[in-house]
Amino acid sequence: MWMESFVDYFVINGGKRLRGTVEVSGAKNAALPILAATLLCEGEVVLHGMPDLADVRTMERLLNNLGATNTREPGGTVRVKVEDEMNCHADYDLVRQMRASICVLGPLLAKRRQARVSLPGGCAIGDRPVNLHVQGLMGLGGDAELVSGDIVMKAKALTGTELFLGGPFGSTVTGTANILMAATLAKGRTVIESAACEPEVTDLANFLNACGAQITGHGSPRITIDGVEQLHGCEYTIIPDRIEAGSFLMAGAITNGEVRLRNCRLEHLLAVVDRLRHIGVSVERDGDEVVVASARRLEPVEVTSQPYPGFPTDLQAQIMTLLCLADGNSIITEKIYPDRFMHVAELGRLGAKLRKEGPTVIVEGVKRLVGAQVMASDLRASAALVLAGLIAKGETRINRVYHIDRGYEKFERKLMALGAEIERRTESSTDD
Ligand code: EPU
Repeated sequence: MWMESFVDYFVINGGKRLRGTVEVSGAKNAALPILAATLLCEGEVVLHGMPDLADVRTMERLLNNLGATNTREPGGTVRVKVEDEMNCHADYDLVRQMRASICVLGPLLAKRRQARVSLPGGCAIGDRPVNLHVQGLMGLGGDAELVSGDIVMKAKALTGTELFLGGPFGSTVTGTANILMAATLAKGRTVIESAACEPEVTDLANFLNACGAQITGHGSPRITIDGVEQLHGCEYTIIPDRIEAGSFLMAGAITNGEVRLRNCRLEHLLAVVDRLRHIGVSVERDGDEVVVASARRLEPVEVTSQPYPGFPTDLQAQIMTLLCLADGNSIITEKIYPDRFMHVAELGRLGAKLRKEGPTVIVEGVKRLVGAQVMASDLRASAALVLAGLIAKGETRINRVYHIDRGYEKFERKLMALGAEIERRTESSTDD
């Protein structure tokens, strides 16, 4: 069939120094599991600081399919209430759009005693299995089988137990979220060893506690959950997005500008600030704000992505762009997703000198990047290309920016307000 669709792209005219203040939005990776957790609650949940993102909209649609109503109010407030618990099936159409759909697995199993969630499948940043999620839920007493590409889980009752959640690349963030959510309604005590320590997991636990759960130890690798009979609704504000904040820190640094961040939790970004300071970028608190400013000369550094509190994989691509302009050779090693390097070839089109060797990229600093047409491949790689466009000489066109819309709220508008010359354009494309 002949179909016309419309796709957005960015055109950036590089070289403008960014100056001004930007407000960091609520954290996507906290918002998604917290929305999934509303399936556990009796009564209305009111969430503030909810970012308006494509992924959040997808999760809202999934909740609707699963019998929850949700209404969005101006200013980032969302109200969610489960009305009907008949449907337990998160189907492929939604799951393939967003892997975080897997976060409904634990809540459905715990609350409705059954769950059917499509296996997410492949992804641009590499192999992303969910074996630890399923293993953990089975440890709580769930039965699992694979039916036509869906994980089907059932349980008469869930019972607390001791679980080890470590995998070959450390713990699992959404896996910890799934077990945490399910264990809140299990009988007795669950202890998760090698739990993910990411602030988004802590935020989920704080939300669940506000709903009546009894969770302790969140933020550490050992989380204890004492099961309760039921969870109630609550009003809760989602933490600021540390990855968005980190991206703006790098935007300020790469353009040699001075950018102030509001609603930024610097304590969630210590590994990033450490690397930035070694590069020669100043990052300081000023009252409630964080100010980034950079010297002309950027020093090369080594960066290794690791589970929190290490350097986040979700900022690996962005710091690579910054290091492209350092005075010497930097080494970047990816320890979470060894294939998360789709941005390397695209940065090369802008004049970066990069050599990939296994999970490591050697970045040879260059004097300048030069604008070109590039292709966004996933959310964070796209952000890295935008950063490159901000400093590249001349015009950079970034295609497929729908990846950015999944995780950065009003990205180009926020950058424009800081003085960037960036424009969203739309063109029609035809598919057979
Ligand atoms: N892993 C397994 N088995 C599992 C689950 C994970 O081996 O059952 C492996 C993965 O292949 C990976 C490592 O463990 O090597 C860590 O994966 P994790 O499960 O922690 O990733 P995730 O929960 O699927 C979340 C974020 C990602 C972020 C990673 C790592 C959400 C919705 N997503 O994914 O965010 O990169 O943690 O910090 O929270 C993004 O926002 O752009 C993004 C990709």
